[in-house]
Amino acid sequence: MVSLLDERLEEYARAHSADAPPVLRELELYTRAHRSDAGMLCGPVEGALLRLLVAITGARRVLEIGMYTGYSALSMAFGLPDDGELVACEQDPEVAAIAELFFGRTRVGRKIRIRMGDAAATLEALRDESFDLVFIDADKENYGLYYDRTLPLVRPGGLVVADNTLWSGRVLAPRTAADLGISAFNRRVREDPSVETVMLTVRDGVTVIRKRLTRR
Ligand SMILES: C[S@@+](CC[C@H](N)C(=O)[O-])C[C@H]1O[C@@H](n2cnc3c(N)ncnc32)[C@H](O)[C@@H]1O
Repeated sequence: MVSLLDERLEEYARAHSADAPPVLRELELYTRAHRSDAGMLCGPVEGALLRLLVAITGARRVLEIGMYTGYSALSMAFGLPDDGELVACEQDPEVAAIAELFFGRTRVGRKIRIRMGDAAATLEALRDESFDLVFIDADKENYGLYYDRTLPLVRPGGLVVADNTLWSGRVLAPRTAADLGISAFNRRVREDPSVETVMLTVRDGVTVIRKRLTRR
């Protein structure tokens, strides 16, 4: 798991945050045992933050871009009401199969609808839908595109949450396409008068963006 914190402090933060439901702990262990890219999991502290954001905002419809093995999707599903729904975009069938396995092990998994394929195309197909919260965590080069396509789908007062916005510090001297994608996204969001933004230094940087109720 990518974190800008010292490992001991990360563990301290985990120990002083709400426990993850057992199925999430099992999913984390399974992903670590079977995937060399398990660092992509958002993990228990960010998972608890996402669950709280969903619950605090009273979100009923959530959209996730970049599901991987389902840790963040399942975390957010625990914060949704019984009739809530989470649409999760993913293009890799191997990780989606793991997610489905674990969604099937818990009642809240029924709230999650997986949309396979390239997220840009899925967003085009979802253009008439509305969401209370969107979590962006897919390919970093396309964060700007995902922001532009999802903000119109978010209700006024709703949230866009973006992961990895500190990008292991590479935002300070961006070089690769992914570095540039994240730093351009950060600038774009900060300059957007239609939203209010805070960049949290949780894990690898989590930006919480609230769509204003009225335009300024
Ligand atoms: C960082 S991982 C997501 C981690 C997940 N949110 C979690 O916390 O457990 C990014 C995921 O986005 C997916 N992805 C990357 N580009 C994509 C695209 N263009 N369309 C759909 N999914 C994509 C990858 O396959 C990968 O599973």
